[in-house]
Amino acid sequence: MPLGGPLSERALVLAPFGRDAQIATLILAEAGYAAFICHAIDELAREMTRGAGFAIVALEALDVSTLAPLVDALGQQEPWSDFPFLILGTHGQSLERKIIPERVLAALGNVTIVERPFHPTTLVSVATTSVRSRRRQYEARSYLLELSEGHKRLENALDELAAERAALTDLTRELELRVAERTSALHDEVAARERAQGQLLHAQKMESLGQLTGGVAHDFNNLLMAIMANLEVLDQRFEPDSLESGLVQAAMQGAERGASLTQRMLAFARQQELTMSVANVRELVGNARELIRRSIGPQIVLDDEGVSAHLPPVKVDPTQFELAILNLAINARDAMPSGGRIQLRAGTAWLPASATVKAGAYVWIEVIDSGTGMSTQTLERATDPFFSTKPVGKGTGLGLSMVRGFIEQLGGTLSIASEVGVGTTVRLWLPEAEEQETETPINEHVRPPIQTRATILLVDDDSLIASSTKVLLELIGHDVIDVSSAESAIDVIEHNSAIDLVMTDYAMPGMTGLELATYVSRFRPEIPVLLVTGFADLPTASLPNVARLAKPYRQAQLEEQLASLLSARSAHIA
Ligand SMILES: Nc1ncnc2c1ncn2[C@@H]1O[C@H](COP(=O)(O)OP(=O)(O)OP(=O)(O)O)[C@@H](O)[C@H]1O
Ligand SMILES: [Mg+2]
Repeated sequence: MPLGGPLSERALVLAPFGRDAQIATLILAEAGYAAFICHAIDELAREMTRGAGFAIVALEALDVSTLAPLVDALGQQEPWSDFPFLILGTHGQSLERKIIPERVLAALGNVTIVERPFHPTTLVSVATTSVRSRRRQYEARSYLLELSEGHKRLENALDELAAERAALTDLTRELELRVAERTSALHDEVAARERAQGQLLHAQKMESLGQLTGGVAHDFNNLLMAIMANLEVLDQRFEPDSLESGLVQAAMQGAERGASLTQRMLAFARQQELTMSVANVRELVGNARELIRRSIGPQIVLDDEGVSAHLPPVKVDPTQFELAILNLAINARDAMPSGGRIQLRAGTAWLPASATVKAGAYVWIEVIDSGTGMSTQTLERATDPFFSTKPVGKGTGLGLSMVRGFIEQLGGTLSIASEVGVGTTVRLWLPEAEEQETETPINEHVRPPIQTRATILLVDDDSLIASSTKVLLELIGHDVIDVSSAESAIDVIEHNSAIDLVMTDYAMPGMTGLELATYVSRFRPEIPVLLVTGFADLPTASLPNVARLAKPYRQAQLEEQLASLLSARSAHIA
């Protein structure tokens, strides 16, 4: 039913018989009420739906058989509406309500019966009451409307609130997620920083340990030098197969074991004297194969098929490289007590710059075993010097640290992968040789010693070494002038023209052996110099007529070097 509007208070009149409709319309019009005359029930129903204040219906028009459209329309009334009906009855009949079936009365609902003939005042008064009641219904309708709008607004507000709440929940969740992500990233960062600090600390520890080890090894080399030189001199005083000679030989072996230990310590300290040459990994492995086979025994299969002959060359000290591979093979052997397989593989790769290596092309070689593998703790410490899990007397714990020191001295690096019960892979990375250098003729100086008697100026600040070296030189058959500093050596050279060769220690207080060699090659270039050293990190100034000899050395090595230098000098003078 439409709201308000011009139709909302009109009267609908259905009184099809007689003049009731006209009379009622007139009376109402006079009282100021608009009226609309309907001619049948269905029209009344239709008009009521369009809008009206009340209806006046003659009792005789209420034919039960045609009431259906009206009942329908009334049934569709909204909850606030209770459409008023004035039924025009007939005196006597209308009082007895029974003549209107109960069903009809119930269907119409809001019914007032007006008897005919009616007095105009009665009709107007009843009409006024009906309109007033209708108005109250309209008011109720507005309240209800307002209420429903309010309800709708409330619902909307609630919906908005719910949406905001959902958005807030989402936001909170996202925030929590971000906080969690950031926290985990922070944890990772802290862990990475701690790891980096740990590595730095370890590297610093290794660096100072390296320096300490290098220093100790160097000093020991000097001592061993004195011991070995004296033993060599002693040995020549005894009959070859005598008891004394046997004792000296045994002492010599002990000293040599000591020398190999100091050699390993120097290698770890990256202070090893290296004789570099450009070499092919396949050839190096080939050279070492027999030695490796003998060391690992028959229970272990050696497979070096994975080392191709077509790899780019590397610049290494071949002997030290072979020793490194041998060391790794021995470690592999020890990890496979009941036999197994050692596989050697090689290849090339480009490495980006890192804390340990420069960016560049590298050749890698792997020693793979199927042994016990290492626990995480062992793996972490495996390359630390003196770390060994082997029984006392079985391992010095210098094997891997020596290999690592050696490889790092060459500008390469070492990596280990290991899994308990599966095996270990140690990989060595070596920088590719920059140019195809011809191999340094390392064996060239191994010539039969020439027995020419020469005058040798011996320079060493360590009197113990100086005296034993002097005896050794004299034993070889040379004359020796010995001084304890480079400065005194220059003094002798300037005043004595009979010096054939200068043999000098490197590390001396004041002027070093290298400075002395530089002086000699500048002012007396015809005098060759033999520089004796235990350090590798000497400035590599290549001076003509200057050779190096690493401490500790055997008499034979000394003889070779002297012979080589002296023959060059004879050629120079001739
Ligand atoms: N291939 C391997 N398989 C399992 N463990 C290994 C392997 N190589 C090394 N290790 C472990 O690393 C430790 C250190 O090795 P490293 O070669 O430095 O010393 P070592 O073999 O114990 O003694 P040395 O080499 O002086 O005889 C070993 O004691 C062993 O625990
Ligand atoms: Mg070892």
